[in-house]
Amino acid sequence: MKKKTVEDLQVLGKKVLVRVDFNVPIKEGVIKDDNRIKAALPTLKYLLSKGAKVIAFSHLGRIKEEADKKSKTLLPVSKRLAELLGQEVKFVPQTRGKELEDAISNLKNGEILMFENTRFEDLDGKAESKNNPELGKYWASLGDMFVNDAFGTAHRAHASNVGISENLKGNTAVGYLMEKEIKFLGGAVDNPKKPYVAILGGAKVSDKIAVIENLIEKADKILIGGGMMFTFLKAKGLNTGKSLLEEDKLDLAKEILAKAEAKGVKLVLPIDTVVAKEFNNDAPHKTVSVEDIASDDMGLDIGEKTVELFKKELEGAKTVVWNGPMGVFEMSNYAKGTIGVCEAIANLKDAITIIGGGDSAAAAIQLGYSDKFSHISTGGGASLEYLEGKVLPGLAAIDNKSCGCSCE
Ligand code: 3PG
Repeated sequence: MKKKTVEDLQVLGKKVLVRVDFNVPIKEGVIKDDNRIKAALPTLKYLLSKGAKVIAFSHLGRIKEEADKKSKTLLPVSKRLAELLGQEVKFVPQTRGKELEDAISNLKNGEILMFENTRFEDLDGKAESKNNPELGKYWASLGDMFVNDAFGTAHRAHASNVGISENLKGNTAVGYLMEKEIKFLGGAVDNPKKPYVAILGGAKVSDKIAVIENLIEKADKILIGGGMMFTFLKAKGLNTGKSLLEEDKLDLAKEILAKAEAKGVKLVLPIDTVVAKEFNNDAPHKTVSVEDIASDDMGLDIGEKTVELFKKELEGAKTVVWNGPMGVFEMSNYAKGTIGVCEAIANLKDAITIIGGGDSAAAAIQLGYSDKFSHISTGGGASLEYLEGKVLPGLAAIDNKSCGCSCE
């Protein structure tokens, strides 16, 4: 079912509440990565150009104690947003109250304000994160309409997305970013162009079980790298030395290998790995075959031969989804596998290439490949849950678009 989009709303002169995901890394007041802010610009610019009064809001990190509020204020984000929009963004340092209500009343058509971190409401009984009905109702009362453009938070049922939607039924829509995420990730989940190749990495098998199980039903090949490869290699009877291993997932890894085979899905494991004796970028390291990992070796990246193998397996793919780095890419000596895979996908011709958020998205952006992918998801947990085939509550709560026939 299609969702109503921002273009389905008549926004001129209306107070439009816009949930964005500006949960960005900030260190000592400095934003380290503003991609999520940039990703929300099309929706915000559209609404402003159409004469809406825009009230934008987001969470930032997690608020467990009063002291967290200092480092988790959205003030620096509102300043960056103003620079990117090229217009004033009034910042209200409140999540509720008179100052916020007055500022909203004073907004003129085409103006925007941002209010403070929605999770400041979590200090008192986790009102935001537990979708407290009063809080959702209060925030909904501040606007006429609600646009949810926070894909990164769509897997959460919080007051600032689901709570508001429930109170503004008939006047809710998704923004352009949400629409784009659904188009690409939804396309891979529901109707991927074949051959469909998935590349999964990251530390743990346990984080990716549900995704792998869903992929076995849809993909033609699954290429596995990252720390999780060692649990699969061990499950195949190889010695993995001191490499990361989830002992309690060995049986599951065996089941996945068997299931993939039974379904005719090619599950490709690395053939070589970069090993060191310590978890340290400066430790002496070398590349060995996965058959020759010594008992005191720690595998920290896939090797060059594996990169070549993965490149070959990617040839001719029409849909590629990548989630998770191939090694400890934060350390330069163990980043080559992730870089190699990133380049290989970026250079594919005629394929829909999607990065499912998180560390792999950060790697591709850092490497300057952002323009080479069809889509880089802004969601970490949200994109994983979407790829698992789960319903995202933040998205489900938005009004469906009427198809104009009698089916409803
Ligand atoms: C994310 O960064 O994945 C989203 O902003 C959600 O954040 P959360 O995991 O703190 O809910």
